[in-house]
Amino acid sequence: MSGQVIQLKASDLDDLIKLEKSCFDYHWSRDQFLMGLERGVFKILGVREDARLVGYIAISLIEDEMEILNLAVHTDYRKRGLAKALLKRAFEICTKKGIVKSFLDVKISNTPAIDLYKKFGYVQVGVRKRYYPDTKEDALLFRCDFATG
Ligand SMILES: CC(C)(COP(=O)(O)OP(=O)(O)OC[C@H]1O[C@@H](n2cnc3c(N)ncnc32)[C@H](O)[C@@H]1OP(=O)(O)O)[C@@H](O)C(=O)NCCC(=O)NCCS
Repeated sequence: MSGQVIQLKASDLDDLIKLEKSCFDYHWSRDQFLMGLERGVFKILGVREDARLVGYIAISLIEDEMEILNLAVHTDYRKRGLAKALLKRAFEICTKKGIVKSFLDVKISNTPAIDLYKKFGYVQVGVRKRYYPDTKEDALLFRCDFATG
């Protein structure tokens, strides 16, 4: 179904790899995706438009904490609210599971992603110098506390 955010499965692997390669120069491997899709180490949610996988978010849920491991939307489908829809669904899952806080890291130059995360209530709590192996850019660490009760 178009526009609906769903949990991805091993059968989505090839589509996921294609999408990932179109979005990042330094991208996740098959095995990394399989850790989420098959072994359940983390969850991957995706969104399709006309059957084409156009966006995904990978989230790790451990005890009362959620970490955003990756998020991407195909270039042809950006600025249409798909990343917002993916994040919204991730937050709904957190609420259901009683998760109270979330962390992520993002490249300091990634204005679109930083803007998006701030809109969802993330605030910067730290910097990891020269963190990323591809560009040696700094990582900004963001945290979001979910309202409880
Ligand atoms: C970051 C990314 C996921 C946003 O996806 P998207 O579907 O285009 O985002 P949305 O349409 O849901 O936009 C949500 C918000 O993000 C921000 N945003 C998105 N694109 C932006 C841009 N080009 N410049 C500034 N802010 C932007 C805005 O705050 C926007 O809210 P608005 O529509 O009210 O202005 C997408 O640009 C992408 O895949 N980038 C490459 C991969 C990446 O960098 N992932 C993040 C890893 S941490």
